[in-house]
Amino acid sequence: MRTASNSIVIAVDGTAASGKGTLAKRLARHFSFAHLDSGSLYRLVALSVLESGGDPAQAAKAIDLSRIGDDAIRSDRAGKKASEVSAIPEVRAALLQFQRDFAAEFDAVIDGRDIGTVICPDATAKLFVDARPQVRANRRWKELQSLGIPREEAQILAELVARDRADRSRPISPMKPALDADLLDTSDLDIDAAFAAALALVSPKVEAALKARPRG
Ligand code: DC
Repeated sequence: MRTASNSIVIAVDGTAASGKGTLAKRLARHFSFAHLDSGSLYRLVALSVLESGGDPAQAAKAIDLSRIGDDAIRSDRAGKKASEVSAIPEVRAALLQFQRDFAAEFDAVIDGRDIGTVICPDATAKLFVDARPQVRANRRWKELQSLGIPREEAQILAELVARDRADRSRPISPMKPALDADLLDTSDLDIDAAFAAALALVSPKVEAALKARPRG
């Protein structure tokens, strides 16, 4: 097992529905790194709270991962609740070590809100991904359409804006770009162009770290 200082981590933080998850997945594939979608951890806690009506601090420990499908995890209801539970200090504390251990164990791309600021402040490369709210709402609307889930675009927009505001203004580990993060606005980029831009920003740092690392 490698130590934290030896593993390479690309932190991909950003706003809701900014495309950071897709970018993180593609970066992981490109470099053959592991990928951790940290938002799904908060979504799982949220679902267990929604299902049990219970205490979020307990739910963080009690969740049964095997029962929960991807549709439920990715739903807007889970996203909204995830934002709420993510402001609870006990929930963040329960998830912190798992994320740090993941980063120490694997060369990884980790996406979320506080990866570059709190989870992996020494990450090899950091991106903060954003797009205009209207653009993000339209992308999400199209995605839901393609899944056969009709939703009002205006309502999606209102929810995204409210979630960003909550994530930005919570006292503990608020969403914000790390001081040394590269900002990537994907408003006017399709996914291929966004990926090319992300790669251009992170590649030099990752290649340098790979080169500097002792082999073996
Ligand atoms: O990235 P996402 O939409 O799956 O995240 C859902 C919520 O989880 C998000 O609104 C805030 C919370 N979250 C967080 O607080 N910290 C993270 N690293 C990732 C997600």
